Amino acid sequence: MSTSSTPTIDFKTSASDYRQRVDTALDLWLPKENITPTHLHTAMRYAVVGGGGKRVRPILVYAAGHTVGIAPDQLDGIAAALEIIHAYSLIHDDLPAMDDDDLRRGRPTCHKAFDEATAILAGDALQALAFEIICDDETMQADASTRLRLIKELTEASGSLGMAGGQAVDLASVGKKLDLSQLEEMHRLKTGALIRASVIMGALNSKECDAETLSKLDQYSQHVGLAFQVQDDILDVISDTETLGKPQGSDMEQDKPTFPELMGLEASQQYAMQLHQQALDCLSDFDQRADTLRQLSAYIVERRN
Ligand code: IPE
Ligand code: IPE
Ligand code: MG
Ligand code: MG
Ligand code: MG
Repeated sequence: MSTSSTPTIDFKTSASDYRQRVDTALDLWLPKENITPTHLHTAMRYAVVGGGGKRVRPILVYAAGHTVGIAPDQLDGIAAALEIIHAYSLIHDDLPAMDDDDLRRGRPTCHKAFDEATAILAGDALQALAFEIICDDETMQADASTRLRLIKELTEASGSLGMAGGQAVDLASVGKKLDLSQLEEMHRLKTGALIRASVIMGALNSKECDAETLSKLDQYSQHVGLAFQVQDDILDVISDTETLGKPQGSDMEQDKPTFPELMGLEASQQYAMQLHQQALDCLSDFDQRADTLRQLSAYIVERRN
């Protein structure tokens, strides 16, 4: 792996730059609200822009790409596609048939601000849009076979062996006691898969990203993905609704299996720190271009919302 003398930018600055980049890309790709069907397009925009989304997946895309020498303009479409799939998953996650939550990103959930049918369709249309972006993004210098690889990563991460499958396991587990490996498997699918795809898709179109580098990034992403959901479960217990921008205590109210419920709060916090350390260990051979990935791993376990 090559070295670079570029000084490391602090996480706040790089995260804010990346958030701005992806917000610009999202605004570009989302159909305008005055295009018919206007109600649907308004709901799609509502769920993606203007709320308090942290944009963790886009930041992972840019940070992974930076680690292996890919310029951010090559990643705007990929970052937007990941955030759009994520936003769709949140719309559906909040529906009455799923978690039945009323608040998301500090605002009424999509089905509350609009109506249930519109929220379902907004999710459907966002999912399709994500793949359209990977096909159509003209700034990204990628041939057809690279685009197919990107699409395959995203379909696998979103589908029944990824996020949607994890959501199915989550719903089927309500009121049940899962053991640690079952809980980890559920988290690996419902949250880990899209986080992993963010890292892989950010890095895969790089000439300097050989199989070993990609494998280390892959391992990093799996630790970070699990840590992310462990922290999400912890915050559901210890945070408050205003800070979270979503209802605190939702998991307990619905009798969801979570890490704090399984191993206790303190052990969950220690586990999150352990996963963070394991994520860092995967990057030990990387130069300072991986610093944003390192800082992001810390942010994930230290975040308060
Ligand atoms: C929440 O994701 C849902 C999970 C996968 C745990 P985020 O915590 O990334 O939500 P936003 O995008 O910042 O709203
Ligand atoms: C949601 O997990 C994961 C996906 C949306 C795929 P949660 O149900 O724990 O997410 P929050 O807590 O509602 O954000
Ligand atoms: Mg859920
Ligand atoms: Mg939920
Ligand atoms: Mg949660």
